[in-house]
Amino acid sequence: MCGIVGYVGKQNAVSIILEGLKRLEYRGYDSAGVCVEKGRKLDLVKKAGRVDNLAKAVAKHRLAGTTGIGHTRWATHGGVTDENAHPHVSSDEKFALIHNGVIENYAQIKTFLSGKGYTFQSETDTEVLCNLIAYHYAKEPARTKGHSRFVESVRKTLRHVEGTYGIAVLCVDFPGEIVGARKASPLILGVGDNEYILASDASALVSRTQNVVYLKDGEIVHLTPKNFSISTLDQADVSPVVDKITWSIADSELGKHTHFMEKEIFEQPTALENAMRGRFSADGSTAQFGGLNITASEFREMERFMFCACGTAWHACLVTEHLIERFARIPVEVDYASEFRYRNSPLDARTLFFVMSQSGETIDTLAALREAKRKGYRVMAVNNVVGSSIAREADGGIYQHVGPEVGVASTKAFTSQLLIGAMIALYVARMRDMSFSDGVGYVNALKGAPDLVRKTLKQAAKIKVIAKKYAGYNDMLFLGRLSLFPLALEGALKLKEISYIHAEGYPAAEMKHGPIALVSEKCPSVFFAPKGEIFSKIVSSMQEIKARKGPIIAITTEGSDLPKGVADDVIEIPECHEAVLPIVAAIPIQLLSYYIAVERGCDVDKPRNLAKSVTVE
Ligand code: G6P
Repeated sequence: MCGIVGYVGKQNAVSIILEGLKRLEYRGYDSAGVCVEKGRKLDLVKKAGRVDNLAKAVAKHRLAGTTGIGHTRWATHGGVTDENAHPHVSSDEKFALIHNGVIENYAQIKTFLSGKGYTFQSETDTEVLCNLIAYHYAKEPARTKGHSRFVESVRKTLRHVEGTYGIAVLCVDFPGEIVGARKASPLILGVGDNEYILASDASALVSRTQNVVYLKDGEIVHLTPKNFSISTLDQADVSPVVDKITWSIADSELGKHTHFMEKEIFEQPTALENAMRGRFSADGSTAQFGGLNITASEFREMERFMFCACGTAWHACLVTEHLIERFARIPVEVDYASEFRYRNSPLDARTLFFVMSQSGETIDTLAALREAKRKGYRVMAVNNVVGSSIAREADGGIYQHVGPEVGVASTKAFTSQLLIGAMIALYVARMRDMSFSDGVGYVNALKGAPDLVRKTLKQAAKIKVIAKKYAGYNDMLFLGRLSLFPLALEGALKLKEISYIHAEGYPAAEMKHGPIALVSEKCPSVFFAPKGEIFSKIVSSMQEIKARKGPIIAITTEGSDLPKGVADDVIEIPECHEAVLPIVAAIPIQLLSYYIAVERGCDVDKPRNLAKSVTVE
């Protein structure tokens, strides 16, 4: 959710913050604002709408300064208005603050502060924070041992706050300084050349530095023009660890593409190569992972796996479940992280717990991880963003290594999660009863996946034509079976996310138990119909739709002998190993939804009401 940037240095903070906000816009894009501290005064511009809108207002206002904070919002409390946009300023005009997260006890704090004469301009939960800081500041002695009055006021405030936050604060009495803090919302410090940048996401600072400190929950960072220090809510000093970001700004730029979603779809062959690099055993018969922090024999002892995730990552878990049960014969359960965290699900000692999350910051997935750890389970994370909260809190894990994913609709992160799921299935299967030669066959199939995806991507022009034909419909069904049932769910999700067409995903045979009532010439169905054991059953389901005049797009494997006339449009994918099929089958549904959304004139990379990473409940 919301994006945060703060700058302390010698350059023009406003342009650096605006550039950062542009890169963070995928985290929230309903309003934006910037505040600079100049001459012991706060100068603020904030606007409902996109960052471009803010940039125009900032230029008109001639906003300038060398210390500032900026924010792009995804509304939680309070509608999308100029007043509710961040930064918020305390009623004594001493503090400006930006916030990502939710303050759960804001109503009590607001009542308390109103009683003390503080006033509020917005409907947000955030505004209580800057006023509570101002309240503590007014009471704070001028100097507190070793720490500044500014830092201590923020620290005192945060001790009274329930909820989640990533914040950055300016104070007029401390020119050139910013205080930041985090709890369950990401915050990263970029350590540049005579400058510091605070951001909720590395993409906002990577153009200026690749040296970063990942702040931990409960930490407060104090930036001054010359240095920075980190301490905890309990006033303990923290020695910072400076890490290096391994990707560069070019990785998060559009290049020749119109949208990030398009770029990321076409990046998938390389992304898959990166995700599998170095992860096969020397004998070529199994997978190997460097960061699991669990021995092969401990892994072998596990009798059950539990996977938790949200959104697209949850679909990847469902495919993983199918592959692990199919090849490794271990029972797997998959749950929505948001349900698991409150469900008090029984787990036994031989259960290994996995979370999957591209961003590593999804609050529900993080909460599920914490709940599992609280119950004493070892938790493994499949995650893309190095240094994310989930990566740091898990006991071990597997990085996806696909570089930054900017498009809100997940594509390359999804297929790499499918690949890693298939590799986990292989790893466990080879410990159990998969033979050496079957293992070699499986490994070779996975190694061939990037080329099969490359081949499938060559169908883009054809899929674009099909997309034009179907872009005017208002309802669509996606139907698949076995490992492609989760792909049907993913196809429906992709389409509704970016084109706002109502779509549902179902197991093809379940269609008769309800969704068939929707079928008419106005409701097309996308069928996954690969060659295989139940191909004829899938064709029967297609016939049932056809008999009711439902238009059909079939995604089938080459040479599948699909009866003539059963589908209105056919997209062929290469024949492949069962572990690779879901990866290859993902490509047509990504392209189809992308081209339909473009045809409908939708803002593909910033679909309405959505955010790339959901850091609030
Ligand atoms: C949001 C995004 C989805 C994503 C989900 C889980 O809802 O819009 O595209 O699948 O979060 O994200 P994660 O980062 O945990 O994989």
